[in-house]
Amino acid sequence: ASILVLNGPNLNLLGKREPGVYGATTLKQINQNLETLANSQGHQLESFQSNAEHELIERIHQAGEQGVDFIIINPAAYTHTSVAIRDAVLGVSIPFVEVHLSNIHRREPFRHHSYFSDIAEGVIAGLGPKGYELALSYALEQITRQ
Ligand code: DQA
Repeated sequence: ASILVLNGPNLNLLGKREPGVYGATTLKQINQNLETLANSQGHQLESFQSNAEHELIERIHQAGEQGVDFIIINPAAYTHTSVAIRDAVLGVSIPFVEVHLSNIHRREPFRHHSYFSDIAEGVIAGLGPKGYELALSYALEQITRQ
């Protein structure tokens, strides 16, 4: 099966970006760890990060054409603003888990609303990089059950 990990704007700065909030782990480390985990169970995992809304949308459309089975997405600031990315994931009908490194509910009020949570299989927030691993573990369990 194939899994796509999507990360939104500024997550390319992980490791040096507000380490008190987002931790010291880089996005490269997160993605490599996820790929190793998926591969060890015989699955394919691709990751993509962009600071541009349209690039994330196009990658989601591409996932639909490729027959990607499951998406793990941290839309970053687009979580709170993007009807367009929401519509893209709805448009391809690929199940997804929404991940946030920080606990968005314990932060500023404008971070409390997500355009993704009501259409996600599940939401993980506040567990740092571990959240991606837990999402992957869930995705693999779902895929192998099919
Ligand atoms: C984030 C939370 C968002 O509010 C923020 O804009 C981010 C990262 C997180 O992973 O905690 O860029 O999605």
